[in-house]
Amino acid sequence: MCGIIGYTGYRNTKTVLLNCLKRLEYRGYDSAGISINNEKSKIETIKAVGEIKILEKKAESFSANGPSGIGHSRWATHGAVTEENAHPHTSCHQEIAIIHNGIIENFKSLQEKLTQKGHIFKSNTDSEILAHLIEEHYEKTTDLKKAVEKTIQEITGSYALVAMTDKEPEKLIAARKDSPLVIGVGDNENFIASDVPAFLPYTKRVIFLEEGDIAEITKTKIQLYQSDGSKKEHEINHVTWNIEDAEKSGFTHYMLKEIYDQPESIQEALRGRISDFDYSISFPDAVEELLSQPFESVSIVACGTSYYAALLGKYLLESLTSLPVSVTYSSEYRFFGKNYAHSLVVAITQSGETLDTLAALKEARKNGASTLAITNIIGSSATRIADAYLLMQSGPEIGVAATKTFTSQIVLMALLSLCLSLRYDKIGADDFHHHVQQLKQIPRNIRKIFDTIDEIKHVAKKLSTAYSAFFIGRGLWYPLAREGALKLKEISYIHAEGFPAGELKHGPFALLTKETPVVAILHKGITYDKMLANIGEIKARGPSVIAIAEDDDEDIEKYADHVLRYPTDGEIECLIPATVILQLLSYYTALYRDCPIDKPRNLAKSVTVE
Ligand code: M6R
Repeated sequence: MCGIIGYTGYRNTKTVLLNCLKRLEYRGYDSAGISINNEKSKIETIKAVGEIKILEKKAESFSANGPSGIGHSRWATHGAVTEENAHPHTSCHQEIAIIHNGIIENFKSLQEKLTQKGHIFKSNTDSEILAHLIEEHYEKTTDLKKAVEKTIQEITGSYALVAMTDKEPEKLIAARKDSPLVIGVGDNENFIASDVPAFLPYTKRVIFLEEGDIAEITKTKIQLYQSDGSKKEHEINHVTWNIEDAEKSGFTHYMLKEIYDQPESIQEALRGRISDFDYSISFPDAVEELLSQPFESVSIVACGTSYYAALLGKYLLESLTSLPVSVTYSSEYRFFGKNYAHSLVVAITQSGETLDTLAALKEARKNGASTLAITNIIGSSATRIADAYLLMQSGPEIGVAATKTFTSQIVLMALLSLCLSLRYDKIGADDFHHHVQQLKQIPRNIRKIFDTIDEIKHVAKKLSTAYSAFFIGRGLWYPLAREGALKLKEISYIHAEGFPAGELKHGPFALLTKETPVVAILHKGITYDKMLANIGEIKARGPSVIAIAEDDDEDIEKYADHVLRYPTDGEIECLIPATVILQLLSYYTALYRDCPIDKPRNLAKSVTVE
């Protein structure tokens, strides 16, 4: 959840740390701080509550520059939002400074022991224990790496940890367990961060730390160790994201940019997976090998928006393969999930770091299931835990609200369903080719939605005055109703709920008034007449209805107050253009309400806590 950056090199350390922190702010932003090993070999620390720009202002009078430094942006999990609780945390004599992401479960008992030894704690966080433990061990070993090694042997819980000491001012020691860390490899400088965008302006060469790794980093050398202290070779990866990818490209918000990225991100999700020659679908070898097993059922685990992609996946997989598919929130699956024999467990997670989803994946593996992760982040924990993984290839998604990664998740679920359908002999060659061909048309159909932006804005203006709204759909369109409602509530703070259209009359009808608009998402398939009937029932109770319907749907005009249209096509292929309308509707509604769209209150991009 929190953002971590460490730097050692020749540049102005304060400037580098603040720049990198700004790029990490989306991970959490209630407070932040930096510590620098200054030119006089002393550690200086500055912290501020609020956004990084507040820290930046405060740091104007902070002249510390030196060979190394660490920075942290915090999203509180343990201890209130105060300067004392912000990271970095320092030891009693200010000789050790640390930043930490994760939870130290046994910090209470350790704190009692250290307090008896005379350590004085300044914060109410579990993380501060690390600075004091390292201090204890450093006094005996006078070696920062050994002190960190001994510290992590004593703690239980999860951590991405970076430590420094004024006694070894050019060195940073990092360690990870259940929380990501990645090294940025530079020339005569090196970085360590919780994720790649932090240091993208400086380097694209990266080393992903694996579970249990410890890294010793100076400006000229990187050495990895395993948890038993033995040296380990490392591999340098080249990330292809450029700075523009991770920035707003002139859009007012990352979210808007990411919505407009979708024609390309869908193309990327399809790239390398559909043969131009015969339209066959292929996945990386590990995935192909996994899918060659004769599965009897599929379970999908995910959270938030990814959960709605999972729900959609259930409809797609069941209709195209006849396999029974269950969908469970990761946080529930990890305790109550059932694994059936010959079962495939698919975890959908944009970040690949959502703690509940990782726990569900581990549980599935423990119980002998075959596991597949669908994620956007190469090197993320999900890719390491699952037997195989499929990448969304969406590029970085900075806005807290998931947009382009949701539509890529749909594409991947469609490809997976079609691929299994063919393997299990459930689809004819003509239908298969038709679907695959149509998937390739999606980017073109999304661009057509952008041409209707004025109508979407017009409807958003009306929606922006609502206090509460409902979203309805049936079949494949029901998960979209859930996602549309989540998007609206998340960024515009309007209360919203998504339902299968047939369910409103079993309770939610009681809430329908002229003031509660209903967004109905429909397609002229088998449930179309039922949807029209449901809309009629709703209209009779007062609400205005915003319909999201096909271009050639004339009947809907008689039922709905406003109609936003997507290009007519096959049902599966229409889902994504309709989603784009929902995303834009939420975006402009939030814009008219003057909400902080990219950083909604109380939310963070990657939820790495329980
Ligand atoms: O990284 P993940 O896909 O595992 O994240 C899951 C949810 O936290 C995420 O989808 C969240 O609901 C989005 N911010 C919603 O827009």
